[in-house]
Amino acid sequence: MTSTVLALVGSLRKNSMNAMIVAALPALAPNGMTIVEFDVSQIPLYNQDDDTDTPPEAIVALRAAVAEADAIVIATPEYNHSIPAVTKNFIDWASRPFMKGVLTKKNIMLLVCGPVDSSGSHGLAATREVLTLLGNTVSTALTVGGAHKKITSTDGVVSVVDSDLAQQLRDGLVLLAD
Ligand SMILES: Cc1cc2nc3c(=O)[nH]c(=O)nc-3n(C[C@H](O)[C@H](O)[C@H](O)COP(=O)(O)O)c2cc1C
Repeated sequence: MTSTVLALVGSLRKNSMNAMIVAALPALAPNGMTIVEFDVSQIPLYNQDDDTDTPPEAIVALRAAVAEADAIVIATPEYNHSIPAVTKNFIDWASRPFMKGVLTKKNIMLLVCGPVDSSGSHGLAATREVLTLLGNTVSTALTVGGAHKKITSTDGVVSVVDSDLAQQLRDGLVLLAD
């Protein structure tokens, strides 16, 4: 069976660890699964005045991508023990119009990556809370501490070098295919 998984990254940083883990996912995905990253850098800050029947182009594209996806990966940092603005912003846009938002009833793998070994749990809980409130199922919720030691990039090829993490990601992707 084929499936398309949409990946959304909650960091705009060039060398983002969360972007790196998303880049490593295709190599870990089960047969038939395609992982497509949506570029969230063009999404404007949420403004209810712009959330009309003709929203900004980037929002039309975001909502279409979410609607068409069989499942979703969200990889986000934890900022100040909570959800970074970038992540909250794309979630808020995709959650509207009220009760008609496309970000609902989706099977989601949530990853919170950062450099500190034991962190991420607060950001994970905060993000999961919002996704669950919207009616999604978070089938995998994983903090990836010490991410810079577990994910490497050589000549543009990103790999998960930590075998435990690689297996957790494989397992999470299988749950997205179900
Ligand atoms: C405003 C801000 C707040 C942060 N707060 C936390 C935090 O609460 N916990 C944590 O583990 N890391 C925190 N960090 C560090 C991020 O985890 C780190 O910058 C991470 O690399 C960001 O993800 P990225 O590599 O995908 O950009 C914070 C970073 C910034 C810029």
